[in-house]
Amino acid sequence: MACGTGICMTCVIPVVGGDGITRMVRSCVDGPVFRGEQVRFDDVGSIPFDALGAPGWKGAAGRGVEQDRDIA
Ligand code: FES
Repeated sequence: MACGTGICMTCVIPVVGGDGITRMVRSCVDGPVFRGEQVRFDDVGSIPFDALGAPGWKGAAGRGVEQDRDIA
């Protein structure tokens, strides 16, 4: 981790939330501890096409998940 305060964005990793949606989270402030099965280790270093906010992501219509930050 570079800054450890949530500013530099160098620690961002894809994590699957309880709703099944992948979010790019800052491991320094949103973690640093995650359940191993929730981290998409094969996609670390990239933005998975199905991650919330990824280019072309269509969202889950009507659920308002764009504002949902619960990753547990
Ligand atoms: S280490 Fe800088 S945002 Fe996480």
